[in-house]
Amino acid sequence: MSTAQQLTIPFSMPDIAFPQTRYQGSKLKLSDWIRDAVENLEFDTVLDAFGGSGSVSFLFKKMGKRVTYNDLLTFNYYIGLALIENAHVILTDNDVDFLLEKHAHIAYPSFIQDTFHDTYFTDEENDWLDYVVTNIEQFSDDGEDKYKKAIAFFALFQSAIIKRPFNLFHRKNLYIRTADVERSFGNKTTWEKPFDACFRDFVAEANQSIFCNHRRNSALNQDAFEIVDDYDLVYIDTPYISAKGVGVDYLEFYHFLEGLTDYKNWGGKINYKTKHRKLQHEKSIWANKKLIHNAFDQLFAQFQDSILVVSYRDGGIPTSSEIVALLKKYKGKVDFVNATNYQYVLSNDKTKELLFIAS
Ligand SMILES: C[S@@+](CC[C@H](N)C(=O)[O-])C[C@H]1O[C@@H](n2cnc3c(N)ncnc32)[C@H](O)[C@@H]1O
Repeated sequence: MSTAQQLTIPFSMPDIAFPQTRYQGSKLKLSDWIRDAVENLEFDTVLDAFGGSGSVSFLFKKMGKRVTYNDLLTFNYYIGLALIENAHVILTDNDVDFLLEKHAHIAYPSFIQDTFHDTYFTDEENDWLDYVVTNIEQFSDDGEDKYKKAIAFFALFQSAIIKRPFNLFHRKNLYIRTADVERSFGNKTTWEKPFDACFRDFVAEANQSIFCNHRRNSALNQDAFEIVDDYDLVYIDTPYISAKGVGVDYLEFYHFLEGLTDYKNWGGKINYKTKHRKLQHEKSIWANKKLIHNAFDQLFAQFQDSILVVSYRDGGIPTSSEIVALLKKYKGKVDFVNATNYQYVLSNDKTKELLFIAS
């Protein structure tokens, strides 16, 4: 079927909500604004090259587009599998009951208890994580199981994130949760909500957000530079570097979730010189203020035949005029729209969020 024919298929946007997320840099709250900015563009296939929480892929899926979600981190890829690629499979109450119990026929390791004692979660919670992740691994990587496993991982990650101070894993700071002090921040009730209850809630949220838009959507787990296919539109939302040169390195923030995706091999990937047992890794090019201009240039060159839609938070590196100059190397027309006074989670500053549209 040609692209022109596909564009004529009537599809009305379903009224389905994306699950709540506390993911750093998520564009969930900006979804309506992004939709307004792109809905008059002519495109059918779309790549969300730095997909993160999947909120923008979800918007495109609701618009009836053929969506390819991508993220370098495997834990995010599972979210893309669960909510974007998956059209029908849900996690049943029986599945959840199986996941939340210890079974006599399974030998449960104590890797998290042994490695992360007093780091992110209590002893009891670490035990819960050890057996639930082992249960999740009982799902295979084929057929319906592939999506059940992805939904279970999704619920596991969201539960782990909401129970963390700052919603991150960047420090050994369990004491912030457990110390008996007056608090002017944080959410003690959420931190102390049992894992079982969080998990069930997130499974329910995921299940209600799974739908079919009658397109073959897919999830990828690649470095954006390695994607070879062509798309009508490429949405680009890279990690952010502040004007002071401080970048967001997602693996630094979420290494614990990435470790959970490869539980059996996790121990061999840890940098044991760090107190908080992060994963060994090279610094990301997207968190390096000296390399980031070249990175954008390379990315725009790679996708120069597509409409480029670039999310940008004002006041960072590169500057907005540098982004425009780089886009103009490859595209004839560069427009921008801005959403003022958008406030990010955990930030007191109101920032200007921009969208560059290059066609
Ligand atoms: C600003 S976040 C994207 C947020 C997303 N739009 C949302 O609504 O949640 C940037 C994402 O880029 C991913 N990332 C970092 N380097 C990458 C690379 N080289 N290729 C693909 N994804 C990458 C990170 O894991 C992170 O999830």
